[in-house]
Amino acid sequence: MTVETAPSPTTPEFDLTYSIDDFLAGTTRDSVWIYEAIENAMVDLATEVPGGLVLDVACGTGKVAMRIAEGGCAAVGAEASQEMIGLGRYIQPESGAVMVRSIAESLPFPDSTFDRVICQGSLDHFVDGHAFMREAARVTKPDGRVVIALANFESLSCRLGRNVDRLKWRLGRPRPPWRRYWETPEDHNVKGDLPYVRSLGGEVLELDRCFGLSMFWLMFGWGSLLDRLPEGLSRSVWTRLNAYANRRPWHSDMIISVWRRTDAPN
Ligand SMILES: C[S@@+](CC[C@H](N)C(=O)[O-])C[C@H]1O[C@@H](n2cnc3c(N)ncnc32)[C@H](O)[C@@H]1O
Repeated sequence: MTVETAPSPTTPEFDLTYSIDDFLAGTTRDSVWIYEAIENAMVDLATEVPGGLVLDVACGTGKVAMRIAEGGCAAVGAEASQEMIGLGRYIQPESGAVMVRSIAESLPFPDSTFDRVICQGSLDHFVDGHAFMREAARVTKPDGRVVIALANFESLSCRLGRNVDRLKWRLGRPRPPWRRYWETPEDHNVKGDLPYVRSLGGEVLELDRCFGLSMFWLMFGWGSLLDRLPEGLSRSVWTRLNAYANRRPWHSDMIISVWRRTDAPN
Protein backbone atom coordinates (compact mmCIF):
# COMPACT_ATOMS: atom_id res chain seq x y z
CA MET A 1 0.00 0.00 0.00
CA THR A 2 1.33 3.42 -0.87
CA VAL A 3 0.75 6.13 1.68
CA GLU A 4 0.90 9.58 0.19
CA THR A 5 1.90 12.42 2.45
CA ALA A 6 1.39 16.00 1.44
CA PRO A 7 4.58 18.09 1.70
CA SER A 8 4.43 20.40 4.69
CA PRO A 9 4.20 24.01 3.52
CA THR A 10 6.24 25.12 6.52
CA THR A 11 9.28 22.87 5.98
CA PRO A 12 11.87 24.64 3.82
CA GLU A 13 13.96 22.58 1.40
CA PHE A 14 17.72 22.65 0.99
CA ASP A 15 18.67 25.22 -1.63
CA LEU A 16 20.98 23.31 -3.98
CA THR A 17 20.68 25.72 -6.91
CA TYR A 18 21.80 29.07 -5.52
CA SER A 19 23.04 31.19 -8.40
CA ILE A 20 25.41 34.15 -8.63
CA ASP A 21 22.36 36.07 -9.95
CA ASP A 22 20.79 35.66 -6.48
CA PHE A 23 23.73 37.49 -4.91
CA LEU A 24 22.81 41.17 -4.83
CA ALA A 25 25.85 43.22 -3.89
CA GLY A 26 25.40 47.00 -4.11
CA THR A 27 27.96 49.26 -5.72
CA THR A 28 27.66 52.35 -3.49
CA ARG A 29 30.39 52.94 -0.89
CA ASP A 30 28.24 51.78 2.04
CA SER A 31 27.91 48.36 0.31
CA VAL A 32 31.47 48.09 -0.98
CA TRP A 33 32.97 49.02 2.41
CA ILE A 34 30.76 46.73 4.49
CA TYR A 35 31.58 43.71 2.26
CA GLU A 36 35.28 44.60 2.47
CA ALA A 37 35.08 44.89 6.29
CA ILE A 38 33.22 41.57 6.68
CA GLU A 39 35.67 39.71 4.46
CA ASN A 40 38.72 41.22 6.20
CA ALA A 41 37.31 40.36 9.66
CA MET A 42 36.54 36.79 8.58
CA VAL A 43 40.00 36.28 7.04
CA ASP A 44 41.71 37.72 10.17
CA LEU A 45 39.70 35.49 12.52
CA ALA A 46 40.13 32.43 10.27
CA THR A 47 43.91 32.76 10.13
CA GLU A 48 44.55 33.27 13.87
CA VAL A 49 46.30 29.88 13.94
CA PRO A 50 49.35 30.13 11.63
CA GLY A 51 49.29 27.28 9.10
CA GLY A 52 45.94 26.12 10.51
CA LEU A 53 43.19 24.19 8.74
CA VAL A 54 40.08 26.29 8.01
CA LEU A 55 36.61 25.27 6.78
CA ASP A 56 34.41 27.93 5.12
CA VAL A 57 30.82 26.63 5.14
CA ALA A 58 28.44 27.83 2.38
CA CYS A 59 31.45 29.50 0.83
CA GLY A 60 29.69 30.55 -2.39
CA THR A 61 32.38 31.01 -5.05
CA GLY A 62 34.99 30.40 -2.33
CA LYS A 63 36.57 33.86 -2.50
CA VAL A 64 37.16 33.99 1.27
CA ALA A 65 38.53 30.42 1.36
CA MET A 66 40.85 31.34 -1.51
CA ARG A 67 42.16 34.41 0.36
CA ILE A 68 42.73 32.23 3.42
CA ALA A 69 44.70 29.73 1.32
CA GLU A 70 46.83 32.58 -0.06
CA GLY A 71 47.60 33.64 3.53
CA GLY A 72 49.36 30.37 4.44
CA CYS A 73 46.52 28.35 6.01
CA ALA A 74 44.95 25.29 4.39
CA ALA A 75 41.38 26.11 3.35
CA VAL A 76 38.40 23.95 2.48
CA GLY A 77 35.14 25.43 1.17
CA ALA A 78 31.88 23.52 1.65
CA GLU A 79 29.03 24.67 -0.61
CA ALA A 80 25.64 23.29 -1.67
CA SER A 81 25.45 24.90 -5.12
CA GLN A 82 27.38 23.34 -7.99
CA GLU A 83 27.07 26.61 -9.93
CA MET A 84 28.84 28.62 -7.20
CA ILE A 85 31.64 26.04 -6.87
CA GLY A 86 32.09 25.92 -10.65
CA LEU A 87 32.20 29.69 -10.92
CA GLY A 88 34.81 29.92 -8.15
CA ARG A 89 37.03 27.33 -9.86
CA TYR A 90 36.61 29.18 -13.17
CA ILE A 91 37.57 32.56 -11.65
CA GLN A 92 40.58 31.26 -9.70
CA PRO A 93 41.68 27.90 -11.16
CA GLU A 94 45.10 28.10 -9.48
CA SER A 95 43.72 28.54 -5.93
CA GLY A 96 44.96 26.17 -3.26
CA ALA A 97 41.51 26.13 -1.58
CA VAL A 98 39.68 22.81 -1.92
CA MET A 99 35.94 23.08 -2.69
CA VAL A 100 33.56 20.31 -1.63
CA ARG A 101 29.87 20.09 -2.49
CA SER A 102 28.00 19.52 0.75
CA ILE A 103 25.19 20.57 3.05
CA ALA A 104 25.97 22.68 6.13
CA GLU A 105 23.65 20.64 8.33
CA SER A 106 25.56 17.41 7.58
CA LEU A 107 29.24 18.10 7.01
CA PRO A 108 31.29 15.27 5.42
CA PHE A 109 34.33 15.66 7.73
CA PRO A 110 35.60 13.70 10.75
CA ASP A 111 35.25 15.03 14.32
CA SER A 112 37.79 17.62 15.59
CA THR A 113 39.37 18.36 12.19
CA PHE A 114 39.53 22.16 11.79
CA ASP A 115 41.19 25.01 13.70
CA ARG A 116 38.52 27.39 12.47
CA VAL A 117 35.07 26.85 10.96
CA ILE A 118 33.69 30.04 9.44
CA CYS A 119 30.38 30.92 7.82
CA GLN A 120 29.86 34.31 6.15
CA GLY A 121 26.40 35.66 5.32
CA SER A 122 24.88 32.21 4.81
CA LEU A 123 23.48 30.82 8.06
CA ASP A 124 20.11 32.53 7.52
CA HIS A 125 19.81 30.54 4.25
CA PHE A 126 20.12 27.19 6.04
CA VAL A 127 17.13 24.96 6.70
CA ASP A 128 18.36 24.42 10.27
CA GLY A 129 20.96 26.88 11.58
CA HIS A 130 21.17 25.12 14.96
CA ALA A 131 21.89 21.76 13.28
CA PHE A 132 24.70 23.48 11.36
CA MET A 133 26.13 24.88 14.63
CA ARG A 134 26.18 21.36 16.13
CA GLU A 135 27.99 20.11 13.01
CA ALA A 136 30.40 23.07 13.16
CA ALA A 137 31.20 22.26 16.82
CA ARG A 138 31.72 18.58 15.95
CA VAL A 139 34.25 19.21 13.15
CA THR A 140 36.11 21.96 15.07
CA LYS A 141 39.13 20.95 17.16
CA PRO A 142 38.52 21.18 20.95
CA ASP A 143 40.61 24.39 21.16
CA GLY A 144 39.32 25.75 17.81
CA ARG A 145 36.71 28.41 17.09
CA VAL A 146 33.53 28.76 15.03
CA VAL A 147 33.09 32.21 13.45
CA ILE A 148 29.71 33.40 12.13
CA ALA A 149 28.90 36.59 10.19
CA LEU A 150 25.18 37.30 10.01
CA ALA A 151 23.23 40.31 8.70
CA ASN A 152 21.24 42.09 11.43
CA PHE A 153 17.61 42.73 10.39
CA GLU A 154 17.06 44.61 13.67
CA SER A 155 19.94 47.03 13.04
CA LEU A 156 19.35 50.74 13.65
CA SER A 157 19.24 51.13 9.86
CA CYS A 158 16.50 48.47 9.50
CA ARG A 159 14.47 49.81 12.43
CA LEU A 160 14.59 53.40 11.12
CA GLY A 161 13.82 52.31 7.54
CA ARG A 162 10.91 50.11 8.68
CA ASN A 163 9.33 52.89 10.76
CA VAL A 164 9.75 55.57 8.09
CA ASP A 165 8.30 53.30 5.37
CA ARG A 166 5.34 52.27 7.54
CA LEU A 167 4.59 55.90 8.31
CA LYS A 168 4.73 56.78 4.60
CA TRP A 169 2.41 53.88 3.74
CA ARG A 170 0.00 54.88 6.51
CA LEU A 171 -0.05 58.40 5.05
CA GLY A 172 -1.11 56.95 1.71
CA ARG A 173 2.16 56.70 -0.19
CA PRO A 174 2.11 53.56 -2.41
CA ARG A 175 3.95 50.48 -1.20
CA PRO A 176 6.68 49.58 -3.76
CA PRO A 177 6.41 46.12 -5.38
CA TRP A 178 10.03 45.27 -4.59
CA ARG A 179 11.39 44.03 -1.23
CA ARG A 180 12.52 46.80 1.10
CA TYR A 181 16.04 46.29 2.49
CA TRP A 182 14.75 45.86 6.08
CA GLU A 183 12.47 42.94 5.07
CA THR A 184 13.88 39.41 5.39
CA PRO A 185 14.61 38.11 1.85
CA GLU A 186 12.61 35.20 0.49
CA ASP A 187 15.64 32.88 0.38
CA HIS A 188 16.27 33.33 4.13
CA ASN A 189 14.75 30.82 6.53
CA VAL A 190 15.22 32.97 9.67
CA LYS A 191 15.47 36.64 10.54
CA GLY A 192 19.02 37.40 11.66
CA ASP A 193 19.35 39.59 14.76
CA LEU A 194 21.27 39.58 18.04
CA PRO A 195 18.80 37.38 20.04
CA TYR A 196 18.93 34.79 17.23
CA VAL A 197 22.75 34.92 17.17
CA ARG A 198 22.83 34.46 20.96
CA SER A 199 20.60 31.38 20.65
CA LEU A 200 22.96 29.65 18.22
CA GLY A 201 25.39 28.03 20.65
CA GLY A 202 22.95 25.54 22.16
CA GLU A 203 24.69 23.04 24.45
CA VAL A 204 27.78 22.57 22.32
CA LEU A 205 29.16 26.10 21.84
CA GLU A 206 29.57 29.16 24.04
CA LEU A 207 30.13 32.74 22.96
CA ASP A 208 33.74 33.84 23.05
CA ARG A 209 33.45 37.28 21.35
CA CYS A 210 30.78 39.25 19.53
CA PHE A 211 31.08 42.55 17.68
CA GLY A 212 29.29 44.58 15.05
CA LEU A 213 30.30 46.00 11.68
CA SER A 214 28.97 49.08 9.84
CA MET A 215 26.09 51.49 10.52
CA PHE A 216 23.25 52.72 8.29
CA TRP A 217 23.94 50.30 5.40
CA LEU A 218 21.23 50.70 2.68
CA MET A 219 19.34 53.34 4.68
CA PHE A 220 17.49 55.96 2.58
CA GLY A 221 20.01 58.31 0.96
CA TRP A 222 22.97 57.07 3.02
CA GLY A 223 24.85 55.31 0.19
CA SER A 224 24.46 58.24 -2.20
CA LEU A 225 25.51 60.72 0.53
CA LEU A 226 28.72 58.73 1.16
CA ASP A 227 29.30 58.61 -2.62
CA ARG A 228 28.91 62.40 -2.97
CA LEU A 229 31.33 63.31 -0.15
CA PRO A 230 35.06 63.56 -0.93
CA GLU A 231 36.46 60.05 -0.56
CA GLY A 232 38.73 60.78 2.45
CA LEU A 233 35.92 62.42 4.43
CA SER A 234 33.46 59.73 3.42
CA ARG A 235 35.84 56.96 4.55
CA SER A 236 36.51 58.77 7.82
CA VAL A 237 32.75 59.09 8.62
CA TRP A 238 32.21 55.41 7.75
CA THR A 239 35.19 54.30 9.84
CA ARG A 240 34.04 56.26 12.92
CA LEU A 241 30.57 54.79 12.66
CA ASN A 242 32.10 51.35 12.18
CA ALA A 243 34.03 51.80 15.45
CA TYR A 244 30.69 52.63 17.12
CA ALA A 245 29.17 49.49 15.56
CA ASN A 246 32.06 47.32 16.82
CA ARG A 247 30.92 47.90 20.41
CA ARG A 248 27.17 47.82 19.72
CA PRO A 249 26.33 44.72 17.67
CA TRP A 250 22.60 45.19 18.42
CA HIS A 251 22.67 48.45 16.37
CA SER A 252 25.16 47.33 13.70
CA ASP A 253 24.41 46.08 10.18
CA MET A 254 26.44 42.87 10.53
CA ILE A 255 27.05 40.74 13.61
CA ILE A 256 30.27 38.73 13.93
CA SER A 257 30.22 36.07 16.63
CA VAL A 258 33.11 33.82 17.69
CA TRP A 259 32.31 30.57 19.49
CA ARG A 260 34.31 27.98 21.43
CA ARG A 261 33.31 24.43 22.25
CA THR A 262 31.74 24.04 25.68
CA ASP A 263 34.14 21.11 26.26
CA ALA A 264 37.18 23.24 25.25
CA PRO A 265 40.32 22.88 27.39
CA ASN A 266 40.93 25.94 29.65
C1 LIG B 1 24.55 34.73 0.29
S1 LIG B 1 25.50 33.39 -0.28
C2 LIG B 1 27.02 33.68 0.61
C3 LIG B 1 28.22 33.01 -0.03
C4 LIG B 1 29.57 33.32 0.62
N1 LIG B 1 29.66 32.86 1.98
C5 LIG B 1 29.88 34.81 0.53
O1 LIG B 1 29.86 35.49 1.56
O2 LIG B 1 30.14 35.27 -0.60
C6 LIG B 1 24.75 32.01 0.55
C7 LIG B 1 25.36 30.68 0.16
O3 LIG B 1 24.84 29.66 1.03
C8 LIG B 1 24.72 28.47 0.26
N2 LIG B 1 23.80 27.56 0.97
C9 LIG B 1 22.48 27.76 1.21
N3 LIG B 1 21.99 26.73 1.94
C10 LIG B 1 23.04 25.88 2.17
C11 LIG B 1 23.17 24.66 2.92
N4 LIG B 1 22.14 24.12 3.57
N5 LIG B 1 24.39 24.06 2.94
C12 LIG B 1 25.45 24.61 2.29
N6 LIG B 1 25.38 25.77 1.59
C13 LIG B 1 24.19 26.40 1.54
C14 LIG B 1 24.20 28.96 -1.08
O4 LIG B 1 24.38 28.00 -2.09
C15 LIG B 1 25.04 30.24 -1.26
O5 LIG B 1 26.22 30.00 -1.97
